[in-house]
Amino acid sequence: MIKDTQLLGSIIVDVIRQIAGSDSGILSLHEPEFSGNEWLYVKECLDTGWVSSAGRFVDRLESELAAFTNSRHAVAVVNGTAALHIALLLSGVKPGEEVIVPSLTFVATANAIAYCQAVPHFADVSSSTLGLDTIRLGEYLREIGERTRDGALYNRKTGKRIRAIVPMHTFGHPLDMEALLDLGEQYGLAVIEDAAESLGSLYKGKSTGTFGLFGILSFNGNKIMTTGGGGAILTQDKEMAAMAKHLTTTAKIPHSWAFEHDRVGYNYRMPNINAALGCAQLEKVPEFLTRKRRLAEAYEQRFLSVPGVSFLKEPDYATSNYWLNAIILDKSDLILRDEILRLTNEAGILTRPVWTPLHQLPMYQQCPRMELPVTADLLGKIINLPSGPSIFREGI
Ligand SMILES: Cc1ncc(COP(=O)(O)O)c(C=O)c1O
Repeated sequence: MIKDTQLLGSIIVDVIRQIAGSDSGILSLHEPEFSGNEWLYVKECLDTGWVSSAGRFVDRLESELAAFTNSRHAVAVVNGTAALHIALLLSGVKPGEEVIVPSLTFVATANAIAYCQAVPHFADVSSSTLGLDTIRLGEYLREIGERTRDGALYNRKTGKRIRAIVPMHTFGHPLDMEALLDLGEQYGLAVIEDAAESLGSLYKGKSTGTFGLFGILSFNGNKIMTTGGGGAILTQDKEMAAMAKHLTTTAKIPHSWAFEHDRVGYNYRMPNINAALGCAQLEKVPEFLTRKRRLAEAYEQRFLSVPGVSFLKEPDYATSNYWLNAIILDKSDLILRDEILRLTNEAGILTRPVWTPLHQLPMYQQCPRMELPVTADLLGKIINLPSGPSIFREGI
């Protein structure tokens, strides 16, 4: 067994080095690449003094993001978590209410719900997309849900209102959004898409993040494009977009000099210097997408002949941005997974496990949840591979 594990670990190291090159050194999980106009645009901010929460790059990034995703509106904010927070508030999520969310996601998805003093209600994922399992979620809602005459959904077990649902496109792979939207409609739930990882991914030809009432993006340093830290709220609703902008700008009533604020707002506006970086990065996203797809194809090809693992592919209906590549072990085995993580990391290949499921974290252990067998199974199976756009080389 130990021998087999070591063999598998060394095969994985070999496969990755064949793709990245034997001289590729330390391979991070997702290193940013600054090969475009980043210096130029950031320098303009420094030269002009427009580094903070106003300036031409913020407006430009918002309109270019909207154009890129084919969204009517985009509002740039300080990070993806802040984007989720505001999207949830504007969706009407109130203290004490429940919001359906996968347990298999980054902690920020649930944290943003907690910031609203609402309660994450954990749902299981599908083993093929790693996103919410819409079929089982439908059955579960039928079992625990009770609709009032005005259409509100209540959790029969906790007595609390279930207000919204936050699907997440794991590693950039779109989940089945049509089925998810049907559920939202059937049960009167607002849909807020956590598209933090999936800028550039398409579900049936349409950008992720543009299906629900809101979608959110993250431009953290490890994402397909980065603004250092940053995020955006996408919406098709003009009034919601205006409210999102207002709330994220400390609810200041626009005026040349007066400080008037009409409610408790948030200082969530993206600074101009970050937006400048973002404008340069967004110009490169089409090229990053191409290179990341080629890298994923190379991984897929090479892992075909590796026993005991399979490469995670985009669903048939989708075009993924392949933000993070992943291999799935045939058997769920935390010891095997950790040993492979150890062997690859020791070889300078900074592979990572998937997030600890959120229902296992101390602050979320008491939250309501459905049975989560697929999440539990995937925990011992997923290994993320180095996926940055710079890893791809012509001819691999
Ligand atoms: C699924 C998911 N949701 C939310 C976030 C939060 O984004 P940020 O780090 O920009 O706050 C991230 C990434 O960081 C993420 O991967």
